[in-house]
Amino acid sequence: MRRTKIVDLLKTQPGQDVLVKGWVRTRRDSKQVSFVAMNDGSSINNIQIVVDVDKFDAETIKRITTGACLSVAGELVASQGGQQSVEVLAKEIEVLGDCDGTYPLQKKGASWEFLREKAHLRPRTNTFGAIFRIRHQMAYAIHTFFHQKGFFYFHTPLITASDCEGAGQMFQVTTKNLYDLKKDENGSIIYDDDFFGKTTSLTVSGQLEGELGATGLGAIYTFGPTFRAENSNTPRHLAEFWMIEPEVCFYDKQDLMDLEEEFIKFCVQWALDNCQDDLQFLNKMIDKGLIERLQSVVGIDFERLPYTEGIKILEEAIKNGHKFEFPVYWGCDLASEHERYLVEQHFKKPVILTDYPKEIKAFYMKMNEDQKTVQGTDVLFPQIGEIIGGSVREESYEKLMGRIEELQIPMKDMWWYLDTRKYGSCPHAGFGLGFERLLLFVTGMSNIRDVIPFPRTPGHADF
Ligand code: 4AD
Ligand code: MG
Repeated sequence: MRRTKIVDLLKTQPGQDVLVKGWVRTRRDSKQVSFVAMNDGSSINNIQIVVDVDKFDAETIKRITTGACLSVAGELVASQGGQQSVEVLAKEIEVLGDCDGTYPLQKKGASWEFLREKAHLRPRTNTFGAIFRIRHQMAYAIHTFFHQKGFFYFHTPLITASDCEGAGQMFQVTTKNLYDLKKDENGSIIYDDDFFGKTTSLTVSGQLEGELGATGLGAIYTFGPTFRAENSNTPRHLAEFWMIEPEVCFYDKQDLMDLEEEFIKFCVQWALDNCQDDLQFLNKMIDKGLIERLQSVVGIDFERLPYTEGIKILEEAIKNGHKFEFPVYWGCDLASEHERYLVEQHFKKPVILTDYPKEIKAFYMKMNEDQKTVQGTDVLFPQIGEIIGGSVREESYEKLMGRIEELQIPMKDMWWYLDTRKYGSCPHAGFGLGFERLLLFVTGMSNIRDVIPFPRTPGHADF
């Protein structure tokens, strides 16, 4: 007989023989009968296995423990208990994998920290099952969105010789023997004989190569891992995270903001349409306001606000007695507390903040006529802060070179990027969405380490 997944079993008409395989979540015994809640990861919902103790040898019954893996053949019947519509009356039980008393996930209510230490097992818990199913659904939503809009999925390299964001937060990639480094007369390490013949790192963003794709294919998106060696131990930063980066030719700032808003709403709506069981569970167990918050974002127009206006609002708040940890002045890089004030307290909805001082943004952003601000379009979200960083790109070769020289960016490895501005340059724009930040919002979880299966953060690279 073929195995049926629990998600399908729960929709199957009773009165037939079935084969089900999965892990024991709980076992509850009465005199004659054991009730086993079994889960196979296909759904947040368990199937109840009813085991008539007399029909099995005592040894088998003993091995049905929390965490054990079972194969059960039996009859699917209408359930007598109120909790579920169908259950399985076991006829044959095979213990595929025993699970003894040292299994760390026996007890309910383990802390998030404890579960992070057990990240190899936590996909077996209800909460992480729900989160990782939603993670899959969101990835599928993202590909669906861009595919439907005619964007091409473009693969940008993970190993690179350029620092897109210019922030110097890169993990170096080398095959050199670190115990025996050759240096030149100035004491600098010689890389000529390294694997790639130069210094290389893991990418902090696929944008620069994404622009190369867009200026031929018209509209592309990337979706892949991104690495940042920033030493920030916050609930919103990972050293390895996934980013989605669309890049579109002939888009201006307005078009870009429209795309950002439409994209996020599509993803959130997808979750509401396709992850109901898991969202209901998270809404009940993690965050009572979750589903309502998701619905409200889908139905609301995001506020679109120039940075300068945002600063005025924050200064006004300070005048009225609001206390921030970090100072607010025109030119400051907004801290998460500032972003969240604008979103959660002032506007009470997502905000697209635009036209930032050039000093706090990357070299590639298009300069406004005031020569002070650039056409950035970051999306700020409740609970999260910055969820998208985006901008119109500087398409003028001269202006771009001007910024590069001003910022003293070493461009010897970036001639290829400048070629896009030299040969048939075109207006274009794009953004990067942090996949895990989107997942924080959609799941209601509060720590980014809990929405990626195996988080990498300073001091942590287990599993
Ligand atoms: O704002 P960022 O640095 O922008 C870029 O990398 C641009 N090249 C994107 C583009 O225009 N194509 O990063 C984009 C987003 C942030 O808004 C945030 O959601 C996420 O990536 N992000 C992180 N997520 C988790 N951990 C980190 N350390 C992150 N750094 C950025
Ligand atoms: Mg940013």
